[in-house]
Amino acid sequence: MEERQTAVRIVGGARLEGSVRITGAKNSVLKLMAAALLAQGRTVLREVPDILDVAIMAELLRRLGCTVDYDPAAATVAIDVPERPEHRADYDLVRRMRASICVLGPLVSRCGEADVALPGGDNIGSRGLDMHVSGLQRMGATVSSEHGYLIAAAPEGLRGANIWLDFPSVGATETLLMAAVRARGTTVIDNAAREPEIVDICRMLTNMGARIDGIGSSTLEVHGVETLSPAEHTTVSDRIVAGTWAVAAALTQGDVTVTNAEPEHLEIALDKLTTVGAELSTVPGGFRVRMDRRPTAVDIVTLPYPGFPTDLQPQFIALNAIAEGSALVTENLFEARFRFVHELARLGADVQTEGHHALVRGRERLSGAPVEATDIRAGAGLVLAGLVAEGTTTVHEFHHVDRGYAGFVADLQRLGADVTRIPVDG
Ligand code: EPU
Repeated sequence: MEERQTAVRIVGGARLEGSVRITGAKNSVLKLMAAALLAQGRTVLREVPDILDVAIMAELLRRLGCTVDYDPAAATVAIDVPERPEHRADYDLVRRMRASICVLGPLVSRCGEADVALPGGDNIGSRGLDMHVSGLQRMGATVSSEHGYLIAAAPEGLRGANIWLDFPSVGATETLLMAAVRARGTTVIDNAAREPEIVDICRMLTNMGARIDGIGSSTLEVHGVETLSPAEHTTVSDRIVAGTWAVAAALTQGDVTVTNAEPEHLEIALDKLTTVGAELSTVPGGFRVRMDRRPTAVDIVTLPYPGFPTDLQPQFIALNAIAEGSALVTENLFEARFRFVHELARLGADVQTEGHHALVRGRERLSGAPVEATDIRAGAGLVLAGLVAEGTTTVHEFHHVDRGYAGFVADLQRLGADVTRIPVDG
């Protein structure tokens, strides 16, 4: 599970053509792995992507006393959870992956206490935990922060509560959901996040014996049960990876069929691609994107689901960078996500940012240059820009991209791109 220090070299100009299969969503599977902690015994997850974050979460669960059998080739992970898991998630793992915070809810629920190091992860803004904390407090837990750890305790168990989230936070909804399923009484989470990954975890929890009403809506009503049983579950397809390929097809004036994908999870993003001039069609188990001209610029406003996903914002900025016309992109989730435009500017993109707005003036051509990925999606955006830039683009710090895109380089090569992984100083 070493982060491989590689860069990726892209020679621009290829038209992507062919078919690519999507596996399970990173942002779901990590939470599903944490949810396994809620039941003693063996939980099996399928369609598990071969990415570093899954290996980190597997290691975290091992430290908590679980036996974890992660088979990347079979895309499965089997988690054997002991009767009494440990309750401490150490800094050395948590700092490598912010999503580690998702063990907080299950640990308080199962152990009556949790010590979770405060997370690091992507450099994309402040990313507070206040809603996780206040929700747990409403459910009767005491929560404090000491020596870099969030320490939660509910020795008498958690109790149901009415919780109104100030913002439909994905992480807070997940923490409170996982805390609520075994709490005494009913918990209502209002203004809950509705992302497909939330629906996925609700489905798994239901299979484990949880009672949840309102799945897919912004009001989740969770009736606590005493025990849950382990389950087998297939991870929802990764809509962000699917969306990245869709943009790549449009950007390179290509023809890409995306399989094992759920176009209904990408409605707004695919609609935006139609606006830029792409031809979208559904195929069994997925969709196809064809493009035969330079894209037209398109405005974007990121919002919680079902709004336009922040995780596709850099890819659309890349698209707008070579589009005809200008576009206004508004980022409402993560303030630092525009940092990557400085890298995009190295390829000749014309992007002006002010606060959470970016004005992108489409250029007829971008020109290859060395750039640096600052987070997963920034890295994906830079790769896409590199595909259409003249000459060679080298994306450094490519390990960020590897965290979210299993087999990205190999898939790009299969679709016809001239892309090579190179040693960091090569
Ligand atoms: N926020 C708070 N307080 C809280 C919780 C969140 O202020 O208690 C703020 C955050 O600071 C942020 C905003 O609310 O500005 C959104 O945070 P949210 O909790 O919704 O996001 P998250 O759970 O931290 C997940 C994904 C992100 C994705 C967002 C939004 C995982 C591991 N991460 O983050 O994915 O962008 O939801 O959809 O599921 C990525 O994959 O590249 C990525 C960053």
